[in-house]
Amino acid sequence: MISEVKAQRTKVLAAADTIEKHTINEREQGFRVVITGKGGVGKTTITALLSHLFSQKQFTILAVDEDPQMNLPYAIGVPRDESERIVPLTHNLDYVEEKTGARPGEGWGLMLKLNPDVSDVVNRFGVKGPDGVNILVMGTVIQAATGCLCPENALLESVVRYINLRENEVILMDTQAGVEHFGRAIAQGFDQALLVTDPTFNAVQVVKHSVRLAKELGIPSVHLIINRVRKESDIKKVHDILGDTLPLFSEQFIIPYEEELIACEPDVTPMLSEHASSSFVASIKEIQSALEYYGTKQNVGI
Ligand SMILES: Nc1ncnc2c1ncn2[C@@H]1O[C@H](COP(=O)(O)OP(=O)(O)OP(=O)(O)O)[C@@H](O)[C@H]1O
Ligand SMILES: [Mg+2]
Repeated sequence: MISEVKAQRTKVLAAADTIEKHTINEREQGFRVVITGKGGVGKTTITALLSHLFSQKQFTILAVDEDPQMNLPYAIGVPRDESERIVPLTHNLDYVEEKTGARPGEGWGLMLKLNPDVSDVVNRFGVKGPDGVNILVMGTVIQAATGCLCPENALLESVVRYINLRENEVILMDTQAGVEHFGRAIAQGFDQALLVTDPTFNAVQVVKHSVRLAKELGIPSVHLIINRVRKESDIKKVHDILGDTLPLFSEQFIIPYEEELIACEPDVTPMLSEHASSSFVASIKEIQSALEYYGTKQNVGI
């Protein structure tokens, strides 16, 4: 069993390496946004809503689920039976190998295209969801003795870096809870980060840590999202805890507590149809516009 796990980990790392070798770092037209924060603060909900809003504005969106629990497809509205058929990235490797008879690190790398766009990568490794939202999932992990997700993360991150974003292509990456996975590899090539918190001490502490990290890693625009706000004093509480880190954020967004989410979750799409005029949806639209503004601004070099 242990040796099987080891062999699988080696294979995944070799695949990540192969993809890396086929990656050329050219200046790209689109932009990349990473969404991070403590467990349960609303990262997946926000990522799913933003994916739909970008898609509705004619962007080609790639929503990336870095959480091994694979919640993002459900949130985007992929039906449950279809979600269960989604092939996660690591399993996809076996499929590619089977099809080509190649061993990772050897033959199949030749099938990789130089300079792929979102659709090339989605055709090979991902799925299409409702509203034309493209989805890439890391999927369940090969449990190592240490519980470390490194090979799977390395593979997903290499696939994400491999893409060269064309004009109007956007990557939104939903991450696992916490800061430990918010490392250099994720930050590479990301132009913006959304750090999500609710008005609880522990969640704000994670954001406080992450904003320093994001800045150190060189992400140009880091935005603060205060989610589940019920009253003005919630905002003040978050500001007080953030203290001198508050000026590190480029923008701040407030999302109100929304009762209706419970009824429709895990699928967020009813919010955009049945509750389109709510202040909740208005706040997510504001975030979408700001991301678009910052993403486009950076590309025209204003
Ligand atoms: N503004 C809000 N008002 C009310 N409920 C909300 C709000 N935002 C998110 N929720 C709810 O909170 C729960 C957790 O949200 P979500 O799964 O998006 O968090 P997460 O940060 O992705 O969690 P995890 O770290 O476990 O992946 C969900 O049931 C969601 O519907
Ligand atoms: Mg989540």
